[in-house]
Amino acid sequence: MSQPPKRVALLISGGGSNMVALAQSMTGDHPARPVLVLSNDPAAKGLARAAEMGIPTAAVEHRPFKGDRAAFEAALLEPLLAAEPDVICLAGFMRILTGAFTGRFAGRMLNIHPSLLPKYPGLHTHQRALDAGDTEAGCSVHEVIADLDAGPLLGQARVPVLAGDDADSLAARVLVQEHRLYPAVLRRFVAGDRTPVIL
Ligand code: GAR
Repeated sequence: MSQPPKRVALLISGGGSNMVALAQSMTGDHPARPVLVLSNDPAAKGLARAAEMGIPTAAVEHRPFKGDRAAFEAALLEPLLAAEPDVICLAGFMRILTGAFTGRFAGRMLNIHPSLLPKYPGLHTHQRALDAGDTEAGCSVHEVIADLDAGPLLGQARVPVLAGDDADSLAARVLVQEHRLYPAVLRRFVAGDRTPVIL
């Protein structure tokens, strides 16, 4: 008997291009379906894109919580738990989550990060790669643990750094690969295979 599809919640903060790539991949014989797109910013453009795709959306603005991460996360949990996700994909979600929150979803929360981890956790990854004189850059998908941008690697894609690159041109080249890598990892992950995807 075939299994019911895995339920995937996607957390975003901005444009949501990775969310769109993931949602578009979850059709046909894919073993998962998107059940919620959740943002910390009610104005996130990705929320409108998700709604156009017919995916339920919710927003919990972080600003009124004034840095009280526990209270923000308690509010975030309400729509998230109501969606009964099996897997949570952070897809350009730009809030740091506490260990209490990440621990609750241990082994079933993924993140995409625009660097070849363990290089350049945190922000400004592309500029840091350029400043270091790196000849290649890329993106990583990993399981989320309490430490920022750390956790078991589930996939990486590499791109060359080209002469004349600036942070924007490099980010654009990496983003194309993000849109290939994250769906490939998710598909493998929901099938129970955590072997890293290398593109
Ligand atoms: C992506 O490049 C993603 O890797 C990055 O934010 C961008 C979101 O774009 N995430 C991080 O930097 C997380 N630390 P998107 O909203 O178009 O998917």
